Amino acid sequence: MTKSPITSPLGDAEKEATGAVLQATLVDLIDLSLIAKQAHWNVVGQNFRSAHLQLDELVSAARQYTDDVAERANAIGVSPNGKAKTVVKSSGIPDYPANWQTVEATVAAIVEILGEVIKRLRERIEETDKTDLVTQDLLIEIAAELEKQHWMWQAQTA
Ligand SMILES: [Fe+2]
Repeated sequence: MTKSPITSPLGDAEKEATGAVLQATLVDLIDLSLIAKQAHWNVVGQNFRSAHLQLDELVSAARQYTDDVAERANAIGVSPNGKAKTVVKSSGIPDYPANWQTVEATVAAIVEILGEVIKRLRERIEETDKTDLVTQDLLIEIAAELEKQHWMWQAQTA
C-alpha cells in the first residue's frame, strides 16, 4: 500500500519534508541503539561495570525515542522504515569497531558517535522549524536527553 491510509495534519510539502526528517532520525536512533548494545557487551577494563551499565541507559533512551519517532511519522501520515537493510544503507553515524574495547576506547567512541547524532538532530530541529513544530518538539526532547548523556560520557574523559 503506497497511498497513506492515515490523514496528515500537514500540507503535502510539509508532510514530505517532515517525513524525511523523521525517517533520517529513525535510522540514526536504531543504529545508535545497536551500537550502544554492542559497546555494552564488549567493554572491558577498569570501571567496566559503570560503563557497562551506563551503556544500557543509552540503549534504553535510543530504543524509546526510536518508537516515538516512528509513531510520530505515522501520525503525520508517513510510513516509517526501520528495517535492518534500510538502516545499513541510510544511517549517517560513525561505525563502531568489532571485538572487545577498553573502557577508554569505548568512552571515546561513544562521545564521538553521540556528538554526531546530536549534530544531525540539531540540523533537523532547524529544518522542522518551518514544517512542523510538533515534530520539532519531539526532536528537541530527544536532543536534550542525548546531550545530557553526551555530557556524562565526556565527563569521564576529563
Ligand atoms: Fe546486558
